[in-house]
Amino acid sequence: MEKELKHIAFIMDGNGRWAKKRGLPRHLGHKRGCEVCTDIYEGCLENHIQVMSLYAFSTENWNRPKDEIDHLFNYLEIFFKKEIKRFMRDGSRVMVSGDLSRIPEKTRNVIYDSMERTKDNKNFAFNICLNYGGKSEIVRATKLIAEDIKNGVISIDDVNEKSFENYLYTKDLPPVDLLIRTSGEMRTSNFLLWQLAYAEFIFTKTCWPDFNKKELNECINEFKTRDRRYGGIEDGNK
Ligand code: IPE
Ligand code: IPE
Ligand code: MG
Repeated sequence: MEKELKHIAFIMDGNGRWAKKRGLPRHLGHKRGCEVCTDIYEGCLENHIQVMSLYAFSTENWNRPKDEIDHLFNYLEIFFKKEIKRFMRDGSRVMVSGDLSRIPEKTRNVIYDSMERTKDNKNFAFNICLNYGGKSEIVRATKLIAEDIKNGVISIDDVNEKSFENYLYTKDLPPVDLLIRTSGEMRTSNFLLWQLAYAEFIFTKTCWPDFNKKELNECINEFKTRDRRYGGIEDGNK
């Protein structure tokens, strides 16, 4: 069935272990991890992907030491300041999934600026998931729907799988076709729970700071061998 690859989501995991293995502080793993994002972004463009979603900070990552969190936001800020030119050149739109209100103001403003400047770009969507949690996204959507029903904007009968999506952060995006998680962990860690419903999953042992275009291409080739049945029956047996 459908082999088109429009949307790849990445759980960029293993920055800390990568650094530890080299005797470096964890935050240098995040520094290198941010640099890798540029490479993988380019790799996505080269493969004519339309959307990439990057899990940069989860609602659970607030459990980490403040120093690590501060460094991480600082590296993200540097990333967006540096890459805005590239996004404009490529016609890529920066989008955010997650609640930015808790993100330090300085970082938030840089990201808002990138969103504002790229909002009319149509070639590619760079969806950064920041202070994002799949469960909290679904609860948020449910509350927004309840508000709309209460205010008479929609009725209960209007609520269905299609209309529900209008209340998610990803409302304008196609569903995730491929999820790649680095570092050998095999779980979703609360990432895009709704959007992953029929995604293909690839787990690689490579830590995110070592992930590269070559391995991305291998993942894409692996994706092409998958038979996406969507509850139907095997290809060629219809
Ligand atoms: C992923 O790397 C980046 C974030 C969660 C922000 P980790 O920091 O989780 O690295 P490990 O899993 O501890 O090695
Ligand atoms: C998931 O990685 C979150 C991000 C990559 C931003 P974690 O390292 O936080 O996930 P767990 O704790 O191993 O599940
Ligand atoms: Mg981790």
